[in-house]
Amino acid sequence: MRILVTGATGTLGGALVPALLKAGHEVRALSRAKREDRGNVEWIWGDLISGKGVEEAVRDVDAIAHLATSGRKGRGAVDVPGTRTLLLLARQAGRPHVLFTSMVGADRAAHGYLRHKLEAERLVTECGLDWTILRLTPFHQWLHHRLGGFASLPALPVDRSLPWQPVHTGEVAARAAALLSAGPEGREIEFGGPEAIDTEALVQTWLRAAGLRRPCVPVRYPGRLYAAQRAGLLLTDALPQGEITWHDYLLPPEAILSDDFASEHTASPTSPATQPEQDPDLRVYGGDEGYERPTRS
Ligand SMILES: NC(=O)c1ccc[n+]([C@@H]2O[C@H](COP(=O)([O-])OP(=O)(O)OC[C@H]3O[C@@H](n4cnc5c(N)ncnc54)[C@H](OP(=O)(O)O)[C@@H]3O)[C@@H](O)[C@H]2O)c1
Repeated sequence: MRILVTGATGTLGGALVPALLKAGHEVRALSRAKREDRGNVEWIWGDLISGKGVEEAVRDVDAIAHLATSGRKGRGAVDVPGTRTLLLLARQAGRPHVLFTSMVGADRAAHGYLRHKLEAERLVTECGLDWTILRLTPFHQWLHHRLGGFASLPALPVDRSLPWQPVHTGEVAARAAALLSAGPEGREIEFGGPEAIDTEALVQTWLRAAGLRRPCVPVRYPGRLYAAQRAGLLLTDALPQGEITWHDYLLPPEAILSDDFASEHTASPTSPATQPEQDPDLRVYGGDEGYERPTRS
């Protein structure tokens, strides 16, 4: 199949593109940055907000993996109007299967960023094309990057009452690639990490892996989204689920690791969106370049 990947340069996109190539698909990748085509990856320059390049991107594709997002601070600009533009042009071009990545809890706690994800889900389910919604829990790589922002603080504000269910993007990519290969589900599918851990455990493991010592100050994060998270609404018990734990992501059990496993499962401090251009053919799991894996003490 020829599959368009929006958000191909992002944390998940960096893992999905090689997973799709490995499954034998041709990939067309959309980015606001100009890139050279390589192997079975055709890069299209385009912007979902202005709509430039999108008509060309959706032409003659069998499926669309729609991952692009303007993130939590982007006020839904890509998730909602960008998704509307993509779907409109995709419908004019043909009948591709649309797989949209959303967040676990979007239906149960539509506050903040999740409100935009739910609105985008509705656009997808009502657009007249065949669809699959893949709702995900937070990525290891995203949490790792986010915690890095706290590293310079003398103490970390920690709300112990919040459960997290981090998942590895390599495993998300494998799930998304399998769903794209299998065809439209016409339903919402949840996929999360193997365990729920509280913020204190999350932070302590991260501090250990980073070789840092910081006191944790107990706080209670405000707002409706955190209240929903506290109530467990952002967790899923759907099966299958990921197998790589937060601990093993940050502190891989070296005794059972082969070199291949280690190179595929090391952590990433930043989104590939902020990295220099890389060859997607060379990667199996994305978002891991340039990161020095912590060694066990
Ligand atoms: N991160 C998480 O923990 C998490 C958890 C659950 C679900 N999700 C969902 O998973 C999906 C992927 O997330 P991610 O963390 O991999 O994203 P990301 O790393 O933040 O990357 C965002 C991507 O969106 C693209 N993009 C941004 N603005 C665009 C625009 N105007 N036009 C076209 N493309 C644009 C960027 O491409 P260019 O910069 O190359 O244009 C980039 O590839 C999203 O749907 C997200 O909501 C993420």
